[in-house]
Amino acid sequence: MKKFTSVSDVSNLQQIIKKALEIKENPLLETDKGKGKTIGLVFLNSSLRTRLSSQIAAQNLGLNILTLNAAQEAWNLEFADGAVMNGDTVEHIKDAIEVLNQYCDIIAVRCFAGMKSKEDDVNESILSQFEQHAKVPVISLESATRHPLQSLADCITITENLGHFDKLSVNRKPKVVLTWAPHIKPIAHAVGNSFAEWMQEMDVEFVIANPEGYDLDKNFTKDVKVIHNQDEALKDADFIYVKNWSSFDDYAAMPEVKENWMLTNEKLTNTNQGKVMHCLPVRRNVELSDEVMDGENSIIYQQAKNRIFSAQAVFSEILDELN
Ligand code: CP
Repeated sequence: MKKFTSVSDVSNLQQIIKKALEIKENPLLETDKGKGKTIGLVFLNSSLRTRLSSQIAAQNLGLNILTLNAAQEAWNLEFADGAVMNGDTVEHIKDAIEVLNQYCDIIAVRCFAGMKSKEDDVNESILSQFEQHAKVPVISLESATRHPLQSLADCITITENLGHFDKLSVNRKPKVVLTWAPHIKPIAHAVGNSFAEWMQEMDVEFVIANPEGYDLDKNFTKDVKVIHNQDEALKDADFIYVKNWSSFDDYAAMPEVKENWMLTNEKLTNTNQGKVMHCLPVRRNVELSDEVMDGENSIIYQQAKNRIFSAQAVFSEILDELN
């Protein structure tokens, strides 16, 4: 693997899921693989899971780790090409990346959507600069449009829970529903887009449920069925992935939603004892109720744990390329 920014960088999805599950069985399988090599984890935005799971994964592979919480610790970065830097910005992203090239064998970066310019976000205005200027493999720790390490962890988690589905002995593919949930502020599309892309590579029946005005970018959802009625979408669901996102068409707007889309135990009765997923962090009793979050159908903490093995499988494949 030469880089990891989307599902298209994975040559065989089932193989990397299998590898991640082997790593989960024995996380110290390849403790020397990264010896003498350095991964830079650059965070332009906040993180709990991505930062810590990446650090554990890199540690398990024997990599040296440089973590930079750039928003708090680095110079104020300039992203515009040709900018006259006579204002608040102190260091151009191009120069920062060139310096990271001197220190790192792998550069991993988190750069969220700015949610101000649809064009900038759709074109990955920051990640594209890393891809352009980095001379070492680049890994996305979530970008403007995708969250691939999360999506791989989601695929691992669904695979681990297929036993539950098999026991139900129904003659169909597992039904996975990505359902929109309410939120108090405009949220980016990266997790939803990415989950949609990766589910299209899995052997599942995949459906998206969201209110009118909240359809995701067609470039990610392609021919996936989008249903504007949550109860209808949830019927017989085996996996329910809860996530908020703002409007894509009316970029970053939050059109009014009259129905209650918060996932509750009552809504789960319509499902096939559906397992509930969320990438976290979650707004309890806004996106989903306490009873769902803490209930027996939730596999959300398992999903968070799998972030380690998702990252470790990817770092290991990148190291294969470097060694
Ligand atoms: N799910 C996820 O990426 O969590 P963090 O934002 O805490 O890294």
